[in-house]
Amino acid sequence: MINPQPASLFPTEDSLPQQWCINPPLEQRQYLCDGVLHHWDGPVKEVLSPVCVQTDSGLRQVSIGSYPLLQEAQAMEALDAACRAYDNGRGLWPTMAVEQRMKHLETFAFRMQEQRTQVIRLLMWEIGKSQADAEKEFDRTVAYIGDTIDALKDLDRVSSRFVIEEGVIAQIRRAPLGVVLCMGPYNYPLNETFATLIPALIMGNAVLFKPPKIGVLLHQPLLEAFRDSFPPGVVNTVYGKGQDIITPLMSSGRIDALAFIGSSRVADQLKRQHPRPHRLRSILGLEAKNAAIVLADANLEQSVKECVLGALSFNGQRCTALKILFVHRDIIDAFLARLGDAVSGLKAGMPWEEGVMLTPLPEPGKTDYLRELIDDACLQGATVINAGGGLVEQTFMAPAVVYPVAPGMRLYAEEQFGPVIPVVPFDDIEEPMRYVRESNYGQQVSLFGSDATTLAQLIDPLVNQVCRVNVNSQCQRGPDTFPFTGRKDSAEGTLSVSGALRSFSIRTLVAAKQTEANRAIIKSILSERSSRFLSTDFIL
Ligand code: G3H
Repeated sequence: MINPQPASLFPTEDSLPQQWCINPPLEQRQYLCDGVLHHWDGPVKEVLSPVCVQTDSGLRQVSIGSYPLLQEAQAMEALDAACRAYDNGRGLWPTMAVEQRMKHLETFAFRMQEQRTQVIRLLMWEIGKSQADAEKEFDRTVAYIGDTIDALKDLDRVSSRFVIEEGVIAQIRRAPLGVVLCMGPYNYPLNETFATLIPALIMGNAVLFKPPKIGVLLHQPLLEAFRDSFPPGVVNTVYGKGQDIITPLMSSGRIDALAFIGSSRVADQLKRQHPRPHRLRSILGLEAKNAAIVLADANLEQSVKECVLGALSFNGQRCTALKILFVHRDIIDAFLARLGDAVSGLKAGMPWEEGVMLTPLPEPGKTDYLRELIDDACLQGATVINAGGGLVEQTFMAPAVVYPVAPGMRLYAEEQFGPVIPVVPFDDIEEPMRYVRESNYGQQVSLFGSDATTLAQLIDPLVNQVCRVNVNSQCQRGPDTFPFTGRKDSAEGTLSVSGALRSFSIRTLVAAKQTEANRAIIKSILSERSSRFLSTDFIL
């Protein structure tokens, strides 16, 4: 271990801010199954925060609690509960009027907000997210629930009319898929789990929900709200090792849709475990290696600012992060000088410190992995150009700007998902364009320049390689109403407020030849209100 500075970045136990401490540790022993919070007496997993404290014997990661390591039996009970709640589409929840389901979601959102401080505190300690970013994640998630309800109102309004085509009268609506397994990532453990959980629920599916390996405890304060807001079995939680709980769930063949945000390697494994893969719908948010292409006429100040935000927000732990910068050789020196200064000016510290941007990393072994990437590049002729870049103190790594990065270096191809900024100089625009074309990933790209004609000529080929071209702006998912997806190994399906409603449902219709008798039957069903599906009720 290399110490970046004489004074440690980490606090002593006495200097921890009391209002943000998790005291006593959160020893979670509950899991939600079939509308009941069950007590767990079996093995548990201790949760170590990426935040360390100084002790006489060195730095120690703070233990903030533990959570249940459920086994196959509990996972299968949760699956049975979800299947009962769905009941082949005949359950209370999938047949409930859309407006009623919205009320359940509203109740949940209200109850969720009562837990705001506790969830934010856990986000800060469990994954090292700064207070400001943790607050943003929580508030964005609550807003997402409201936006989802509004989007469903729009969708339902459109579906509340009949269509008459070629002598056939029909009503087309979206219906649930069945039992959905939702698994989110550690970097947005709340927001990105809920980005699939909420639309899956509101469309009438029953859900099994497994929090990411890192980022479990922050869901504990919401368990009672889940229990009280939904009918039994509609939401069930499972915790534990993938092999113990996820493999049996997938192998059962009873999971109808998989919502997974993580690596393509794990996504492929999960899909393969399903005995009838064609029955499984998958909504996947996977890895990416988004490039920035900085042209010779780019506004330096603006492009450096966006590249720093894009590469280092939450320490670069975003699937949308800028993970490689291609900079035209004409401006490379000026760009690097500004980039180095901007990175050195960022505040490093603990999640609760005001204005902090760089914080400790939650993944075990992450700083070692990042050092390997940097060392590999340096062995092949690159250097870390910012003072102190890449120095490690336990779970913290100072951000490193590595230059010049070239093909053959691991940093050129691997998704670092951390505070390392590889910079590649280019003379010919064909070099970064080839990189994007040949990459295994196809999520987004950022293009920096000022000549409209040149930009237009690059935008057209790039939109067919990735799913979002950001002009003079960093890559990002938001606003959440925009479609978020990717090509190649980066995604399957589209997530956006309205896109997710479609992803977790299927169009189904009732159709009849337009005879007198059929017209009379439909009219009678409508006037008697004897069907929930065949209905012209309009949500106001
Ligand atoms: O980790 C990937 C996230 O979807 C990125 O979202 O662009 O809002 O940070 P963001």
